[in-house]
Formats: sequence, C-alpha cells, structure tokens
Amino acid sequence: MTRPSRRNTRGKTESSSDGDQPPINQNPNPKTRMPARRNRKFSRILSLSLCGLLLVAIGLFFNKYYINPMKKTVKPRVVTPLPAPKLMDLPMFQGEHKESLYWGTYRPHVYFGIRARTPQSLVAGLMWIGVTDGRYSMRHVCQDSDGLKKYGWTHHNARDYGRQVFVDQRLTLTTSFLKSKEIESGYGGDWAVRLEADTEEVNKEKTEIVHLFFYMADEGGTALGLGRGISDITDDHTLAFGSRDDLGSWQLHLESKDVFEFHYAGFKTQHIHNLSDLVQTNLGIQARNLGRLQLSDTADYAPNILVFQISAKLPFKADIAFISKSSDSTSRTVERVKVLTGDSLTSLLEQKQKQFDDKYQRCFNMPDELNAEAITVGKATLGNLLGGIGYFYGQSKISLPSSSNLVSGDNYISYWPAELYTAVPSRPFFPRGFLWDEGFHQLLIWRWDVKISLDIIGHWLDLMNADGWIPREQILGAEALSKVPSEFVLQYPTNGNPPTLFLVLRDLVSGIKKNKFTASETNEITIFLRRAFVRLDAWLKWFNTTQSGKDVGTYFWHGRDNVTTRELNPKSLSSGLDDYPRASHPSEDERHVDLRCWMHLAADCMSSISELLEDRHVGKYGLTAKLLSDFELLNHMHFDYESGAYFDYGYHTEKVRLSWRVVEAAGSYPTREFVREVLQKPTLRLVPHIGYVSLFPFMDRLIPPESWILEKQLDLISNTSTLWTKYGLRSLARTSSIYMQRNTEHDPPYWRGPVWMNMNYMILSALHYYSEVDGPYRDRAKIIYNDLRNNLIRNVVRNYNETGFIWEQYDQKKGRGKGARVFTGWTSLIVLIMSEVYSDS
Ligand SMILES: *[C@@H]1O[C@H](CO)[C@@H](O)[C@H](O)[C@H]1NC(C)=O
Ligand SMILES: *[C@@H]1O[C@H](CO)[C@@H](O)[C@H](O)[C@H]1NC(C)=O
Ligand SMILES: *[C@@H]1O[C@H](CO)[C@@H](O)[C@H](O)[C@H]1NC(C)=O
Ligand SMILES: *[C@@H]1O[C@H](CO)[C@@H](O)[C@H](O)[C@H]1NC(C)=O
Ligand SMILES: *[C@@H]1O[C@H](CO)[C@@H](O)[C@H](O)[C@H]1NC(C)=O
Repeated sequence: MTRPSRRNTRGKTESSSDGDQPPINQNPNPKTRMPARRNRKFSRILSLSLCGLLLVAIGLFFNKYYINPMKKTVKPRVVTPLPAPKLMDLPMFQGEHKESLYWGTYRPHVYFGIRARTPQSLVAGLMWIGVTDGRYSMRHVCQDSDGLKKYGWTHHNARDYGRQVFVDQRLTLTTSFLKSKEIESGYGGDWAVRLEADTEEVNKEKTEIVHLFFYMADEGGTALGLGRGISDITDDHTLAFGSRDDLGSWQLHLESKDVFEFHYAGFKTQHIHNLSDLVQTNLGIQARNLGRLQLSDTADYAPNILVFQISAKLPFKADIAFISKSSDSTSRTVERVKVLTGDSLTSLLEQKQKQFDDKYQRCFNMPDELNAEAITVGKATLGNLLGGIGYFYGQSKISLPSSSNLVSGDNYISYWPAELYTAVPSRPFFPRGFLWDEGFHQLLIWRWDVKISLDIIGHWLDLMNADGWIPREQILGAEALSKVPSEFVLQYPTNGNPPTLFLVLRDLVSGIKKNKFTASETNEITIFLRRAFVRLDAWLKWFNTTQSGKDVGTYFWHGRDNVTTRELNPKSLSSGLDDYPRASHPSEDERHVDLRCWMHLAADCMSSISELLEDRHVGKYGLTAKLLSDFELLNHMHFDYESGAYFDYGYHTEKVRLSWRVVEAAGSYPTREFVREVLQKPTLRLVPHIGYVSLFPFMDRLIPPESWILEKQLDLISNTSTLWTKYGLRSLARTSSIYMQRNTEHDPPYWRGPVWMNMNYMILSALHYYSEVDGPYRDRAKIIYNDLRNNLIRNVVRNYNETGFIWEQYDQKKGRGKGARVFTGWTSLIVLIMSEVYSDS
C-alpha cells in the first residue's frame, strides 16, 4: 500500500464529498410528529412506476484504450492482460461456489452495505442521522469525522452471516445480516437484515427519535418499483420490487412490531456514490418547508434508487427481507418472508452466532492463558477482517511516460475493466485493495476459509499484465475513486510491491505436504496452483528482471526519485515501507536487503510449488533460491560486521538535513522552501539504519541457528536503545539518524519509529522458529519470543479497551494507537499471535 496515498487519503477522507456537504440546516431537537404506525403518502408518480419496470439503457462503455476514435491504436502492452487462462475461470470458482458468495456485505466503505459480486449490482445500504458539533449529519460512508465511539463487526463468517454494532453518542445500533437459500430462491438466494436501535444509557428515558434510512439501488440504472407497503392501504409490507436478469423478480419486505413513522424518496441517478448528498438535499428541502426531518414521499420518474425512512422512539427493531424469484407463488413468498423475519430470524441469527464462535475456537484454538478480554478482541478483529472483504469493479489508471503519444492530456491509460474481490486494510481510510497488505490478510483468511482465500488470490493474479506486473493499489469504480485524492490514483508500471501472496502460497504448499487439508481441499489447491503457475512465474520474472541490481543476486526497489531536493531521504513507496530510510542518493548501484529476501521467498516458494506439481522447471527456481539463501554471499552483500546488522547498500551520506531556504523568483515575491542540504559527498557504502529492513534475513530464517550473527540479531531486537519497546518492536532504531524525522515539511515520520503489526508478526514468527530448532541461542529466542508476544497482545487489547478500535500502528513511546482507526487489515495478525500460529516452513 502506498504510504502517501495513505497519509493523504486520511486527510482527504475525513472531508470526503459526504463530509463536505452542508449539514441539514436544523437544530437537533425538532418536534417530530409521532403518528400511529405507517403514516404514508401515496403519490401519483409512484403508482406510475408501480405499473411496470422500465429498463433504462445506461452507461455506454467508453473504451479508453482507443484514445483517438478515428485512429485505431494497438493496445499498449502495459494494459494487455497476461495471455494465460484466468484463475477465476476455473470450474472450482463457478457453480455452487460462485452462487454461494453472490450476495455479501461487500461494500466495506459504508457503515452497512450489501451488494452482489457482479459489476452492475443491486446494492443496499443504511444511513442514519447523527449529530456532529451540534448539527445534524448523515452517517453513511465510514469516516472518522462522524466521531462514532465504536463500530465494527463483532462477528462475520465471510459467507452468510455478520453482526455489527455502532455506538453513536446515545444511540447503539446493531445490524445483523443473514443469507438463506431456499429451493425456490433465485440465484444467490435471499437475505435478511435486522436493525436494532437502542441506547445503553439506563437511567434516562428512552424517548429520542431515531431516523434510519434503508436504501436499495440499481447500479445499472434499472428502475425499481415501489411496493404497496409504502402506503397504508394494505397489509402488504413490500417496500420495493424489481426484476433483473441475474435474479429474476425480487421483493423487499419490511416487518416490525414497533410503532414508527415511515417516509420514502426515489431518485434517478448514475452517481450512487454520492447518494448521501441526494438524501440530505431532499431532507433539507423538507425541513425548510415543513420543519420536520422527513423524506419527500415522492420519487423521480423510473427511480433506480429508493430510500426508506423509518423514524421511531428508542428502542425499536425492524427486519428487512430480500426475496429473490419472488413471484412464483404469493403464499410461498409470504412464508419465506416469515422465515427471514421475527422470531424465526432471531433463532437463525443465534444459530449463526454460535457457529461462528465454535469455528473461531476450532480454527484458532485460543490458549487458556488469554483473558476473556483478549478473546473478545481477537474475535472482533477477525470478524472485521472478514466483514471488510469487498467486491470492486472498474479500471485502474496507469501512468505513462509523458513522451508517449498514446495518452490524452491526463497522461494515463486505463487498465482493462476488472473485478477484484479483496479484504481491505481499513474501512474508513483504505477501503480498497492493496497488494502488499493482501498477503498478510490471507495468512488469517486461509485458515478460516481456504476457498475464499483462493478466490481472493485468484482475483489478484488475474490482474497481471503481459509483463507480469500487478498494479499495487486498486481503485476500481466511482465509489472507490471518491475516497482517493487524485494525485494518488495513478499506478506506475515500473514499480513493484512486496509479493506477499507467496507467504500464503508457501503455507498452502506446506499444508498439503503435512496433510493439513481434506482431500477435496488438497485437490482444489493443487488445481489452483497448476493454473496459477504461469502467472506466478511471470510475476517472479518481472521482479527478477526489472528490479535487479548491478550484481547477480542483488535487487533494489526501482522508482525512487533521484532528483528531489525536498525529501530528507527519497521514499521507496514500492517497498511498502514508504519512508523507511534507504541510501541518501538513489542510484543504480543500490541493493535492498528486504527485496532480496522477498525474492528468496518467491523463488523458494516457486521451487516447492513446482516440486508439488512435478514441474520440470523445478531446478531453475531451486538455483535462484539457493543463490539468494547463500549465507556467505548474503553477508558479503549486506552484513555490517561492526554493528552486527544487515543493511542496504548504495550512495549514502549521513550528513543531510532539511532546512528553510528563501527562493528568489524573478517577477514575484521570494518564497520559503523546506529543502534538503547535503553536507558531505555520498559514498558507496552500507546504509547504517537499524530497523525492520535489517531484520529481513532473520525473518526469512536465512541465518543458521548456530551462527553468532543470530545472537547479534537477538541483541538488536531485545535492546531498548535499538528496537525493543514494551509495545512491540520499533520500525527504526532510536539510534538511527533518521529516527522520528519528518521526510518533508508535510510528511511526518511513518516507518521511522512506530510499531507495525505485520513486521512484528514476521519477526515473532522467526523468533518462534529459532526457539524450536536446536542451537545455542534457542532458550534466548524463546524468552524474547514470549516477552514480545505478551507485549503486543497486551498493548493491542489495552488500546481496544480504551478506544474501541484496532489501529494502523502503535506509538513506540506510550503504545497508543496511531494512524488509521478500524485498521483490521494486517493488524488483525494479532489473532495469529494470540493463538501462536505461524508459518512453519
Ligand atoms: C455526484 O457525483 C458526480 C460525479 O462524481 C458529480 O458530478 C456531482 O456533482 C455529484 N453530485 C452531488 C450532489 O454531489
Ligand atoms: C536519475 O535516474 C535516471 C534513471 O535511472 C538517470 O537517467 C539519471 O541520470 C539519474 N540522475 C541523477 C542525477 O543521478
Ligand atoms: C533470475 O535472474 C538471474 C540473473 O539473470 C538468472 O540467472 C536466474 O535464473 C533468474 N531466476 C529465475 C527464477 O528466473
Ligand atoms: C544496546 O545498544 C546500544 C546502542 O547501540 C549500545 O550502546 C549498548 O551497548 C547495547 N546494549 C546491549 C546490552 O547490548
Ligand atoms: C479494560 O477496561 C476496564 C475498565 O475500563 C478495566 O477494568 C479492565 O481491566 C481493562 N482491561 C484491560 C485488558 O486493559
């Protein structure tokens, strides 16, 4: 994941288009009328749309490959898919599997959202009115500025059940999601949502009125019908209905025993991503005219979005049931609604929750020493990782050199339209796919549901182009794009990102060898690897050729800026470690020790895959793996005998600093700039910064257990002057000249001190390994392992307890959560740390 994209995205998302909208201009205590059940209006426009569904042609697909429509250009190689069979076309991903994953909570960027894994889906979601700074504001897209005290999935099984709780001031809102497949159901089955609004404040009267908005929208623009349930004429509680090629006819029902006021509005727009604005505008007009917070009870002609407002006093409960292929028989439909609402839904939800708890225990077998608090945190963390799995569809934007005549003014070219099924690092800040995060996510997910993991990895590998390159940050579709500042949208085809998916594949291969899987799982993994092979091979080759260094067996992250004068140390975003210090002067002579280790992992993993598949190329990978694990060679290239640490190599000087300089420009006022001063000529040398990068050979277990160098690594890890803190290991040693230094005027330190979970997990995993293999440092490794594990768990649990959230990173001084909240991407590795599950090869 790109670091600046993150930091800047953070600033941006807090005031995303939703947040920027003027709040509904009302004070928070209007006299809302509280009439009897279902006070509704019925407008003529609605009955018109009741008459039938209108298919609306939309979205002419404009193919950006052809910039000039007159002159047909050959598709550039960079946007040409690798010519190989797609993983997602494998039979194992079709049929029952595909259908079973059709519907889901695949819109992680909104507080609660449902869609299908199809490009132009029917989507559903929830909004409610909260109060921020004394003014009403719509809660819809996850954003920090809403100031929710707590939110997230307490349970989610990634397939057919999830339960989420939001604490928004006095309101506690619980959303439960459940899927069900009846014989009569249409494709993908039916689903139900239970909304429960309550308050935890026991002593106060529960008189507040809460406004919830449940919506249904068709991304393809197809009109939705308003059901009879929106009027009070009948007992039919159908809110909406429609028909689609993939589903057949469908209906949406609302059931509730509670008294509530009901309103609706219908919109016709292609911009579903700014739906909250539409609703706010509608409410704003009504509020001005009527002085009440209610939707207009009108709809645009042939609306493709319907919003239903439920306003009621706390506490209240409403069940919403989506019935596919509903028209078969009315009485049967009524029965199906009954199953998915009321008492029947209650017991179905209870069953699912119990199944989740049991499976959690079975998969992660939490040790008894952990307290109840840690168990709860672990469960919620896993639930959030699984609940954060999303589905996206769209085209990445690929940067092209300015000289290229293939591009229009924007200097980019669109990738082919593609879908991505992926877990996201953080719902409010990074609600999209990140290549290097994904490998860490899958370390957990494959242990929960190996088939889902293969499905996700398959989607990523299918994004590979003819060169063997995969864009590292996937911004697909308007909803995803609306969360990213424009300057971070472009993907650079010269830049890599750690191939962490090999971490997972290595686990799978070793699991097969150790008979960890059922026969059918083994079979499917093998089929998957067989088809993935050519892609993995191309991926490895891409790194091996484009990211290689001057000497055989050396590599460096290409794409660092070698002319900038604004950065203290030019970043290497592609490494995933963003501002972690490298050679002060980027050059072709560089060697990056982390990339060398990633290459070793990739070659070693390919070697075991080809062995498993009895591929004749096994030798090639084996030789590369052997070369990269050659201890003498590794030490020759990267080891510093004086400090006992592994370092990068390149043109470097420690004597650099940022300082203010006045720039005189002809014809305008002088300006002040924060620029780098180089006080000493750089020389070719090892780059003396101890931190995560130094520990890669240790993480990769390349150091022989009996080597004194292993002891040195244990020294560096356990020394409080370098990496050790009570909250986990620092990213950069306190002794480094760049420790906690800003990189530019606007870039605070990121990988220059704080504690990150993915690297701590890798280091812990290696400590665990060295505490099990014979050698003189075994006992010491064991002690450090236990202490580090306890520190990490204690701190994450404490922060969760105090803040209600899992964080992107943890401050190395006080242990406080920092950066993005709800970061249940790789920080959820804490679950594996609790259960002491590590890769064992
Ligand atoms: C909705 O989004 C579109 C496209 O991004 C934009 O042009 C339009 O102004 C937005 N509408 C509102 C009300 O924000
Ligand atoms: C920067 O890198 C480019 C591409 O590798 C190279 O052509 C150029 O000479 C380098 N510039 C400096 C100042 O090192
Ligand atoms: C990687 O590149 C080196 C140097 O060109 C080559 O000798 C080696 O065979 C390559 N390894 C693989 C697995 O392609
Ligand atoms: C810890 O590291 C510091 C700084 O490198 C060093 O001076 C000190 O001797 C080390 N302590 C131990 C116990 O190794
Ligand atoms: C969590 O917080 C509660 C009270 O705020 C406290 O009693 C409990 O000990 C805390 N648990 C942990 C693990 O910090």
